[in-house]
Amino acid sequence: MFKLFSKAFVFLLPVVFGLNGCSGEEAATPQTQTDQHMQQQNASSVKQEKFGSVDGQDIIQYTLSNPAGMEVKIINYGGTLTSIMVPDSSGQWGDVLLGFDSLPGYLQKENPYIGCLVGRYANRIANGKFIVNGKAYQLPLNNNGNSLHGGEKGFSRVVWAAKPLPETNSVQLNYHSKDGEEGYPGSLDVQVTYTVTNINELKIDYLATTDKGTPVNLTNHAYFNLSAGKDSTVLGHTLTVNADRYTVVNDKQIPTGALDAVKGTPMDLTSPVVIKTNIDKVPGGYDHNFALRRSASDGPELAATLYHEGSGRRLEVFTTEPGLQVYTGNFLDGSLTGKYGRKYVKHSGICLEAQHFPDSPNHPSFPSTLLRPGEKYRQTTIYKFSTK
Ligand code: GLA
Repeated sequence: MFKLFSKAFVFLLPVVFGLNGCSGEEAATPQTQTDQHMQQQNASSVKQEKFGSVDGQDIIQYTLSNPAGMEVKIINYGGTLTSIMVPDSSGQWGDVLLGFDSLPGYLQKENPYIGCLVGRYANRIANGKFIVNGKAYQLPLNNNGNSLHGGEKGFSRVVWAAKPLPETNSVQLNYHSKDGEEGYPGSLDVQVTYTVTNINELKIDYLATTDKGTPVNLTNHAYFNLSAGKDSTVLGHTLTVNADRYTVVNDKQIPTGALDAVKGTPMDLTSPVVIKTNIDKVPGGYDHNFALRRSASDGPELAATLYHEGSGRRLEVFTTEPGLQVYTGNFLDGSLTGKYGRKYVKHSGICLEAQHFPDSPNHPSFPSTLLRPGEKYRQTTIYKFSTK
């Protein structure tokens, strides 16, 4: 049985097992993380600290925590998640998110969207072109002749207005994207609320409105490694994706329009699969949109489960979205150094990006991403942590 970690469990364990009771190299990093976490951990609250500044605007890091001790940090630059502290099955705390020690890490050009919000259109739009109300729009081409993740800055490299909401353990971020920004039609008002719940979930609620018809597809680009640094890659993690089909792509990762069955292919993750089992049979590694099984409900439904046997940590992803981009950090090449001095090598982390299908504006058969004036774009994604 999987169990949620309780406050009592968390506080007793260091006494039972002894904070200094582990030996060997392996224990060094998690032990340090546990020590720091035990010193800093506080009951429900939203802490704030200055993280730097961008173009004269303060960048603040917000810390959300719950009574069980789960702690999530977010900065208002790109609405970026910078840390998620959760315990393993023996109560050792660890940071399961890839990220950087300080703001310059996130600002560097080479930052591959680590932890940030992505929009106005997450994923790719073929040739950066689409038509709304008979009018053609052209976006900047920032990825092999296509548009990726909203353009040069998108929503990932801008400063969001932030408001802590301590009553709900949340921080609310707002961004006003101007008409024509990155080539998209209409002013778009976006609100994203991060909440840490008492059952160890990180909940992300997205809301957007527009004054002209525009495609909208928002997500978060967190890279997870549930070993919290013990394993340099996620190849030993077990992944389950609740999807029978995936969008087939061409050599530039643009959907052909086909939705192929996963059955009998390395894309079949419908029952738990250790990531390394079939990854070599997927050219380039997993970087695909899975068409999620959905019931008639509009609410968040289970999309994927990631499990790390060594630590017992489990992550379940629930979403309202029709798709999940599974990206196994294939372009990480060891040239970036992240938190705790860790080198981000190929497959160091995995992104589970809940979203609409790539290039939907050019595929009328895909669920629509068009937002019209008077309508509300909403999406909710929940990352729920537990141990086994
Ligand atoms: C997405 C894409 C990948 C890659 C990463 C960023 O998840 O699907 O192909 O571009 O972003 O490196």
